[in-house]
Amino acid sequence: MNETIKSLLERRSCRSYKSDPVPEDILNQILEAGSYAATGMNRQSPIMIAVTDKKIRDQLSRMNAAVMGTDRDPFYGAPTLIVVLADRNVPTYLYDGSLVMGNLMLAAHSLGIGSCWIHRAKEEFDSEEGKALLRSLGIEGNYEGIGHCILGYEKEPCNSAAPRKNNYIYRIG
Ligand SMILES: Cc1cc2nc3c(=O)[nH]c(=O)nc-3n(C[C@H](O)[C@H](O)[C@H](O)COP(=O)(O)O)c2cc1C
Repeated sequence: MNETIKSLLERRSCRSYKSDPVPEDILNQILEAGSYAATGMNRQSPIMIAVTDKKIRDQLSRMNAAVMGTDRDPFYGAPTLIVVLADRNVPTYLYDGSLVMGNLMLAAHSLGIGSCWIHRAKEEFDSEEGKALLRSLGIEGNYEGIGHCILGYEKEPCNSAAPRKNNYIYRIG
Protein backbone atom coordinates (compact mmCIF):
# COMPACT_ATOMS: atom_id res chain seq x y z
CA MET A 1 0.00 0.00 0.00
CA ASN A 2 1.46 3.41 -0.83
CA GLU A 3 2.03 6.01 1.89
CA THR A 4 -0.82 8.30 0.80
CA ILE A 5 -3.43 5.54 0.88
CA LYS A 6 -2.01 4.34 4.21
CA SER A 7 -2.46 7.85 5.69
CA LEU A 8 -6.00 8.09 4.33
CA LEU A 9 -6.94 4.78 5.95
CA GLU A 10 -5.08 5.23 9.22
CA ARG A 11 -5.92 8.83 10.19
CA ARG A 12 -8.26 8.93 13.19
CA SER A 13 -9.75 11.66 15.33
CA CYS A 14 -7.65 12.19 18.44
CA ARG A 15 -9.45 13.24 21.62
CA SER A 16 -6.63 13.26 24.18
CA TYR A 17 -3.54 15.47 23.89
CA LYS A 18 -0.26 16.18 25.62
CA SER A 19 0.40 19.84 26.34
CA ASP A 20 3.57 19.92 24.17
CA PRO A 21 3.17 22.42 21.33
CA VAL A 22 3.32 21.41 17.68
CA PRO A 23 6.78 22.48 16.42
CA GLU A 24 6.67 25.51 14.16
CA ASP A 25 8.16 23.75 11.11
CA ILE A 26 5.56 20.98 11.36
CA LEU A 27 2.74 23.48 11.81
CA ASN A 28 3.95 25.33 8.72
CA GLN A 29 3.90 22.13 6.65
CA ILE A 30 0.35 21.39 7.81
CA LEU A 31 -0.76 24.93 6.92
CA GLU A 32 0.87 24.74 3.51
CA ALA A 33 -0.88 21.41 2.83
CA GLY A 34 -4.18 23.09 3.77
CA SER A 35 -3.55 25.94 1.39
CA TYR A 36 -3.10 23.51 -1.51
CA ALA A 37 -6.58 21.99 -1.23
CA ALA A 38 -8.62 22.12 -4.41
CA THR A 39 -11.18 24.95 -4.48
CA GLY A 40 -14.06 25.64 -6.84
CA MET A 41 -12.74 27.55 -9.86
CA ASN A 42 -9.54 28.02 -7.86
CA ARG A 43 -11.21 30.89 -6.01
CA GLN A 44 -9.32 29.88 -2.83
CA SER A 45 -12.23 31.03 -0.68
CA PRO A 46 -10.93 29.71 2.68
CA ILE A 47 -8.57 31.33 5.14
CA MET A 48 -6.80 29.66 8.05
CA ILE A 49 -5.96 31.10 11.44
CA ALA A 50 -3.25 29.16 13.26
CA VAL A 51 -3.66 29.60 17.01
CA THR A 52 -0.74 28.80 19.28
CA ASP A 53 -1.38 31.61 21.79
CA LYS A 54 -2.86 29.98 24.90
CA LYS A 55 -5.05 32.97 25.75
CA ILE A 56 -6.78 32.94 22.36
CA ARG A 57 -6.91 29.14 22.33
CA ASP A 58 -8.68 29.22 25.69
CA GLN A 59 -11.02 32.00 24.53
CA LEU A 60 -12.08 29.92 21.51
CA SER A 61 -12.51 26.87 23.72
CA ARG A 62 -14.79 28.84 26.03
CA MET A 63 -16.81 30.25 23.12
CA ASN A 64 -17.16 26.81 21.57
CA ALA A 65 -18.22 25.23 24.85
CA ALA A 66 -20.81 27.99 25.31
CA VAL A 67 -22.41 27.08 21.97
CA MET A 68 -22.88 23.56 23.34
CA GLY A 69 -23.95 24.82 26.76
CA THR A 70 -21.08 23.13 28.61
CA ASP A 71 -17.92 24.29 30.30
CA ARG A 72 -15.65 21.37 29.36
CA ASP A 73 -12.82 21.95 26.91
CA PRO A 74 -14.15 20.95 23.46
CA PHE A 75 -10.54 20.95 22.21
CA TYR A 76 -9.59 18.00 24.46
CA GLY A 77 -6.51 19.78 25.78
CA ALA A 78 -4.95 20.25 22.33
CA PRO A 79 -2.41 23.10 22.54
CA THR A 80 -2.67 24.20 18.92
CA LEU A 81 -5.49 24.66 16.47
CA ILE A 82 -6.19 25.96 13.01
CA VAL A 83 -9.50 27.69 12.42
CA VAL A 84 -10.75 27.45 8.85
CA LEU A 85 -13.19 30.07 7.63
CA ALA A 86 -14.40 30.61 4.09
CA ASP A 87 -15.84 33.48 2.10
CA ARG A 88 -19.61 33.11 1.87
CA ASN A 89 -19.61 35.13 -1.34
CA VAL A 90 -18.03 32.21 -3.19
CA PRO A 91 -20.66 29.61 -4.16
CA THR A 92 -18.38 26.67 -3.27
CA TYR A 93 -17.12 28.08 0.05
CA LEU A 94 -18.46 25.27 2.23
CA TYR A 95 -16.92 22.58 0.05
CA ASP A 96 -13.67 24.53 -0.26
CA GLY A 97 -13.35 24.99 3.49
CA SER A 98 -14.21 21.37 4.22
CA LEU A 99 -11.54 20.17 1.84
CA VAL A 100 -8.98 22.39 3.55
CA MET A 101 -9.99 20.74 6.82
CA GLY A 102 -9.43 17.32 5.23
CA ASN A 103 -5.98 18.30 3.98
CA LEU A 104 -5.03 19.63 7.42
CA MET A 105 -6.03 16.44 9.23
CA LEU A 106 -4.30 14.19 6.72
CA ALA A 107 -1.13 16.27 6.65
CA ALA A 108 -1.05 16.24 10.45
CA HIS A 109 -1.40 12.47 10.53
CA SER A 110 1.36 11.99 7.97
CA LEU A 111 3.65 14.07 10.20
CA GLY A 112 2.88 12.18 13.41
CA ILE A 113 0.49 14.81 14.81
CA GLY A 114 -2.96 13.96 16.16
CA SER A 115 -5.93 16.00 14.99
CA CYS A 116 -9.69 16.26 15.13
CA TRP A 117 -12.32 18.42 13.43
CA ILE A 118 -14.14 20.42 16.07
CA HIS A 119 -17.38 21.93 14.90
CA ARG A 120 -19.41 25.04 15.82
CA ALA A 121 -16.97 27.48 14.19
CA LYS A 122 -19.95 29.00 12.38
CA GLU A 123 -21.70 29.95 15.61
CA GLU A 124 -18.42 31.08 17.13
CA PHE A 125 -17.52 33.50 14.35
CA ASP A 126 -21.08 34.67 13.78
CA SER A 127 -21.08 35.95 17.37
CA GLU A 128 -20.06 39.51 18.25
CA GLU A 129 -17.05 38.18 20.16
CA GLY A 130 -15.94 36.13 17.14
CA LYS A 131 -16.39 39.06 14.77
CA ALA A 132 -14.37 41.27 17.11
CA LEU A 133 -11.59 38.69 17.17
CA LEU A 134 -11.47 38.66 13.37
CA ARG A 135 -11.41 42.46 13.30
CA SER A 136 -8.56 42.49 15.82
CA LEU A 137 -6.58 40.36 13.35
CA GLY A 138 -7.41 42.73 10.49
CA ILE A 139 -9.65 40.12 8.84
CA GLU A 140 -12.58 41.74 7.09
CA GLY A 141 -15.09 40.08 4.81
CA ASN A 142 -18.06 37.79 4.73
CA TYR A 143 -16.41 34.80 6.41
CA GLU A 144 -18.17 31.79 7.85
CA GLY A 145 -16.43 29.53 10.34
CA ILE A 146 -16.09 26.05 8.82
CA GLY A 147 -14.22 24.14 11.51
CA HIS A 148 -11.35 23.97 13.95
CA CYS A 149 -8.58 21.48 13.26
CA ILE A 150 -7.14 20.82 16.70
CA LEU A 151 -3.56 19.58 16.71
CA GLY A 152 -1.10 18.06 19.12
CA TYR A 153 0.69 14.95 20.27
CA GLU A 154 -1.61 12.11 21.25
CA LYS A 155 -1.76 11.36 24.97
CA GLU A 156 -3.96 8.29 24.68
CA PRO A 157 -4.46 6.19 21.58
CA CYS A 158 -7.35 7.27 19.33
CA ASN A 159 -10.38 5.05 18.83
CA SER A 160 -9.94 2.63 16.00
CA ALA A 161 -11.99 3.12 12.86
CA ALA A 162 -15.63 2.14 13.03
CA PRO A 163 -16.59 -0.50 10.48
CA ARG A 164 -17.64 1.03 7.20
CA LYS A 165 -21.42 0.87 6.65
CA ASN A 166 -22.93 -1.50 4.15
CA ASN A 167 -23.73 -0.07 0.76
CA TYR A 168 -21.20 2.75 1.14
CA ILE A 169 -20.08 2.05 -2.40
CA TYR A 170 -22.17 1.41 -5.48
CA ARG A 171 -20.62 0.39 -8.73
CA ILE A 172 -21.89 0.61 -12.26
CA GLY A 173 -20.32 -1.66 -14.84
C1 LIG B 1 -18.12 18.06 10.06
C2 LIG B 1 -17.48 17.36 11.23
C3 LIG B 1 -17.69 17.85 12.51
C4 LIG B 1 -17.10 17.22 13.61
N1 LIG B 1 -17.25 17.78 14.86
C5 LIG B 1 -16.65 17.19 15.91
C6 LIG B 1 -16.71 17.79 17.19
O1 LIG B 1 -17.25 18.87 17.37
N2 LIG B 1 -16.14 17.13 18.23
C7 LIG B 1 -15.50 15.92 18.06
O2 LIG B 1 -15.00 15.37 19.05
N3 LIG B 1 -15.39 15.35 16.85
C8 LIG B 1 -15.94 15.96 15.77
N4 LIG B 1 -15.79 15.41 14.52
C9 LIG B 1 -15.02 14.17 14.35
C10 LIG B 1 -15.95 12.97 14.05
O3 LIG B 1 -16.67 12.64 15.21
C11 LIG B 1 -15.08 11.81 13.55
O4 LIG B 1 -14.49 12.17 12.33
C12 LIG B 1 -15.92 10.54 13.37
O5 LIG B 1 -16.37 10.05 14.60
C13 LIG B 1 -15.12 9.44 12.66
O6 LIG B 1 -13.93 9.15 13.37
P1 LIG B 1 -12.51 9.22 12.66
O7 LIG B 1 -12.26 10.66 12.29
O8 LIG B 1 -11.56 8.74 13.71
O9 LIG B 1 -12.55 8.35 11.46
C14 LIG B 1 -16.33 16.04 13.42
C15 LIG B 1 -16.11 15.58 12.12
C16 LIG B 1 -16.66 16.23 11.04
C17 LIG B 1 -16.35 15.73 9.65
